[in-house]
Amino acid sequence: MASDENAAEPRETLLEIRNLKTHFALDEGTVRAVDGVDLEIGRGQVVGVVGESGCGKSMTAMSVMRLIPPPGRIVEGAIRFHRQFNGRAGAADIIDLAQFEPNSRPVRDIRGNQISMVFQEPMTALSPVRTVGKQITEAIRLHQNVSKAEARDIAIETLARVKMPNPAQRIDDYPFQLSGGMRQRAVIAMALACRPQLLIADEPTTALDVTTEAQILDLLRALQAESGMAILYITHNLGVVAEMAEEVVVMYLGKVVERSDVDSIFYDPKHPYTRGLLNSIPRLETVVQDKKEKLNAIEGMVPGPYQRLRGCAFHPRCPDFMPGICDQTEPELIQLEPGHSVRCHLFNGSD
Ligand SMILES: Nc1ncnc2c1ncn2[C@@H]1O[C@H](COP(=O)(O)OP(=O)(O)OP(=O)(O)O)[C@@H](O)[C@H]1O
Ligand SMILES: [Mg+2]
Repeated sequence: MASDENAAEPRETLLEIRNLKTHFALDEGTVRAVDGVDLEIGRGQVVGVVGESGCGKSMTAMSVMRLIPPPGRIVEGAIRFHRQFNGRAGAADIIDLAQFEPNSRPVRDIRGNQISMVFQEPMTALSPVRTVGKQITEAIRLHQNVSKAEARDIAIETLARVKMPNPAQRIDDYPFQLSGGMRQRAVIAMALACRPQLLIADEPTTALDVTTEAQILDLLRALQAESGMAILYITHNLGVVAEMAEEVVVMYLGKVVERSDVDSIFYDPKHPYTRGLLNSIPRLETVVQDKKEKLNAIEGMVPGPYQRLRGCAFHPRCPDFMPGICDQTEPELIQLEPGHSVRCHLFNGSD
């Protein structure tokens, strides 16, 4: 970061994903979980990723972490991470994570260290048979050359950062001794212990009640402001995106269909799918009644994973469907104005 942090300079790039394709070759057919994703995150930027279930949000994140479950694999594209050395501005080099094996040294050096992730299901992130402290200190010692005692001190300090009450005592608790919210704080502490430059948070509050969810969102915001780390925040919920993100990426069936700053997504959405998602934001009453209510305002369903549609993948559900165009050719992601891109024939001047 430059010495004057308030200067309105263009932000340095931290991660660039280019034409990423992550496919699962199964007997039944090929699942194109991620099918040509382009996405950038600036240093210290919070980018929200939204889209219905099955649109490839988690698999995009897992591709960056190189933790795709077999037989899934990256078949094309680049994941360029701008590593920074010794926290010095300018001392960065670029590594394409897609070019290395999932368990290669360069990937292991970055995963859980410079890039870490809070997974969709918090209980799977923690082992039930080891104390929270043991799990955090292991994560620290994997990447930092410190003694057990030093790692324990860092772990306690990190638990304090995530506002765990009595961290020096709770560090010896097993996950089952903690409430859901405290467990999620422990998971976040584990992700933050090595002070990552990028935190990927995949629906980190799905398993929590509304009050605890609000506390975790506050915590993530505070941690982001204090550390300046970038966050890729994945969620179904555009309401949460409005609270958390500066930039929003909307995904549909393995592709980015719209990207812009958060205000334009809410006040000037372009893609019919984005407009559909906005209409489906649960109202407060329904949130309180049932926060797990899924997005359901868009007509029709996400097509099955093996189906390949000609033209725009959203055309069977689109209220603005143009026969002969949308079912024939696939639209490109085009820039409407700086910072606002959309993949839709309605905005493609050449059609
Ligand atoms: N292990 C797997 N084997 C085969 N297909 C998979 C596997 N994991 C995910 N997929 C498929 O990849 C596609 C994208 O899944 P992904 O988990 O990324 O969706 P998502 O956007 O994160 O959805 P959700 O909001 O439900 O978490 C889906 O069609 C899914 O069925
Ligand atoms: Mg997911």
